[in-house]
Amino acid sequence: MPAALLLGATTAFGVACSGFGAAGATPFKTVASVDQLMLGPIAHASRTYWNAVSTVVDKDGIHEHAPGNDTEWTTTWSAAITLAESGNLLMMADRTRGDDWNAFALQLVDAGNRAAHAAEARSAEQVLEQGEQIYAACTACHMKFVMGGEVPRDVP
Ligand code: HEC
Repeated sequence: MPAALLLGATTAFGVACSGFGAAGATPFKTVASVDQLMLGPIAHASRTYWNAVSTVVDKDGIHEHAPGNDTEWTTTWSAAITLAESGNLLMMADRTRGDDWNAFALQLVDAGNRAAHAAEARSAEQVLEQGEQIYAACTACHMKFVMGGEVPRDVP
């Protein structure tokens, strides 16, 4: 009886391994829902990126803000990379909602990638431009897939 159990276990292991290799599929295990990705990494990374370069007008005049040191530029770059790769997370089998969805997600990958290059180039002007492209990618998908479409909404 113990031998049979052992054999059973070995066989199951063998099947799991060969199925894995034969299909050539990449292993993954999703944890977050689309909603959680939106509220978590995507909302936070986009806010970090959009806030990196800003212009504030108050009674003392116009104040331009841009990343001012290595750490701030790296934080900006990191946010962009998070957004680019989030596009891939949205296209994964457990999350995709079809071809249009994938096209919008790919738009986010590309915008995030360009946004990362803008941070690497340390160009406040390019970060501002690419921030708009990211916003366009968010909005394009929301217009089709989110009721109301007016997102990104404010998140805490
Ligand atoms: C490929 C489609 C897609 C893209 C791209 C996308 N979203 Fe979303 N987003 C959704 C969907 C769908 C929902 C509604 C949640 C759901 O249905 O699971 C949502 C909801 C949200 C919410 C509300 C979450 C809540 O629970 O209130 C925020 C905030 C958000 N998205 C931010 C963003 C930002 C910022 C970007 C761009 C950086 C973005 N999204 C890009 C599809 C997308």
